[in-house]
Amino acid sequence: MKMALKLAAVLGVAIVAGGFVLDRAAQATAEPEKQPAEDKVLHAYGDTLILKKEPVGGMFSHKSHVIEYEFSCDTCHPDLFERKRGAAKASGDYNHPSMEEGMYCGACHDGDTAFDTVEEGNCISCHGSDMVEPETIVFVKPVKAVIFNHTEHTEMGFDCASCHDELFEMRVGAAEEKPEEFTMAALYDGKYCGACHNGDDAFASDTLCTTCHIGVQGFERMHGGEGKAAAEEH
Ligand code: HEC
Ligand code: HEC
Ligand code: HEC
Ligand code: HEC
Ligand code: HEC
Ligand code: HEC
Repeated sequence: MKMALKLAAVLGVAIVAGGFVLDRAAQATAEPEKQPAEDKVLHAYGDTLILKKEPVGGMFSHKSHVIEYEFSCDTCHPDLFERKRGAAKASGDYNHPSMEEGMYCGACHDGDTAFDTVEEGNCISCHGSDMVEPETIVFVKPVKAVIFNHTEHTEMGFDCASCHDELFEMRVGAAEEKPEEFTMAALYDGKYCGACHNGDDAFASDTLCTTCHIGVQGFERMHGGEGKAAAEEH
C-alpha cells in the first residue's frame, strides 16, 4: 500500500514540510486538522500538498523529484527511504559504496535512470561543490597557523569517510566556526585531528607542535607576506 497516500487519506492531507514531523502529525489525527496557508502550498499532488518549504533540504529535493520527474511517493517510500528525515543517515550505510550497489539515491542515480554518482562532473549537482579536495588547508582560528595537507592524508590511504563527516564537515572553515571547541583539549580527547594524532595511529598531538603549527611566520611565508623576508634571514 502506498503509505503516504494512505496517510493522506487519514489526515485529509499529507504534509511534506520541514515544520511538521509526520509521526507526530499522525498521532494527532484527533486534533483539529491543520490546513497550511495557501501561499505555503507549492503544488497539490492529489490530496498531497507539497509545501514551499522543503523537508529534506541540502542535496535532495522532493519538489523536483515528485513534480518535475513525476515519481510517486511509493517509488521511494518506504523501500528506498523511510519517511523520516535523517533515517538514511542514521542507518550507518548511507554512503557511496551503498549507492553504487543500487541502494538509496543509487537506485536511480546509476547513469541509466538519472546521472550517476561517480563521474566527476556530477558531484556538484548533489553536493553543491565539485568535491575537489583542497591540497592544503591552513587553520587560523583559534590560533595562527596550523597546516593540514589534505592530499598527503588521502594519499596515505585514508578514504574520505575516515574524516568526513564524523570528524570534519566537508567544508573549509566549518571547524573554525567553533574556535572554543577546536582546541588542543579536544584533540587530546580524541576529537578532530586527535582521532588519529594520539601517538598510536599517528604522532601524538602533544608532541611535534611545529609539525602542525607553522606559526605566523610560516603563514606569511605561504602567503608571500612580510614574514617571508624575516624567515629567509634565518
Ligand atoms: C525520489 C525519492 C522520493 C520520492 C519520490 C518521495 N520522497 Fe519523501 N523522502 C525522500 C528522501 C530521500 C527523504 C529523506 C529520508 C532520510 O533523510 O532518511 C524523504 C523524506 C520524507 C519525509 C520526512 C520529511 C521530514 O522532514 O521528516 C516525508 C514526510 C516524505 N518524504 C513524504 C513524501 C511524500 C508524501 C511523497 C510523495 C508526494 C514523497 N515523500 C516522495 C525521497 C523521496
Ligand atoms: C545523486 C547524488 C550524489 C552525487 C552525484 C554524488 N554524491 Fe557524494 N554523497 C551523496 C549522498 C546522499 C551522500 C551521503 C550523505 C550523508 O551522509 O548525509 C554522499 C556522501 C559523499 C561523501 C562522504 C563519504 C561517503 O562515501 O559517504 C563523499 C566523500 C562524497 N559523497 C563524494 C562525492 C564525489 C567525489 C562525487 C562525484 C564523483 C559525488 N560524491 C557525487 C550523494 C551524491
Ligand atoms: C526514483 C528515482 C530517483 C531517486 C531514488 C533519486 N533520484 Fe535524484 N533524480 C532522479 C531523476 C530522474 C532526475 C533527473 C535528472 C536526470 O535525468 O539525470 C534526478 C535529479 C536529481 C538532481 C538534480 C537537481 C534536482 O534537484 O532536480 C539532484 C541534485 C538529485 N536528483 C539528487 C538526489 C539525491 C541526493 C537522491 C537520494 C537522496 C536522489 N536524487 C534520489 C531520480 C531519482
Ligand atoms: C585526514 C582527514 C581527511 C581525509 C581523509 C579527507 N578529508 Fe576532506 N577535509 C578534511 C578537513 C580537516 C577539511 C576542512 C574542514 C574544516 O575546515 O572544518 C576538509 C575539507 C574538505 C572539503 C571542503 C573543501 C572546501 O573548499 O570547502 C572537501 C570537498 C573535501 N574535504 C573532500 C574530501 C574528499 C573527496 C576526500 C576523500 C578523497 C577527503 N576530503 C578526505 C579532512 C580530511
Ligand atoms: C584519519 C587519521 C588522521 C587524521 C584525522 C589526521 N591525521 Fe594527520 N596524519 C595521519 C597519519 C597516519 C600521518 C603520518 C605520520 C605518522 O604516522 O605519524 C599524519 C601526518 C600528519 C602531518 C605530517 C605530514 C604532513 O602532512 O605534513 C601533519 C602536519 C598532520 N598529519 C596534521 C594533521 C592535522 C592538522 C589534522 C587535523 C586537521 C590531522 N593531521 C588529522 C593521520 C591523520
Ligand atoms: C596534529 C596536529 C597538531 C599538533 C601536533 C599540535 N597542535 Fe595545537 N592545534 C592544532 C589544531 C588543528 C588547532 C586548532 C586550529 C587553530 O587554532 O588554528 C590547534 C590549536 C592550538 C592552540 C589554540 C587552542 C587551544 O587549545 O588553546 C594552542 C595554544 C596549541 N594548539 C598549542 C599546541 C602545542 C603547544 C602543541 C605541542 C605540544 C600543539 N599545539 C601540537 C593541531 C595540532
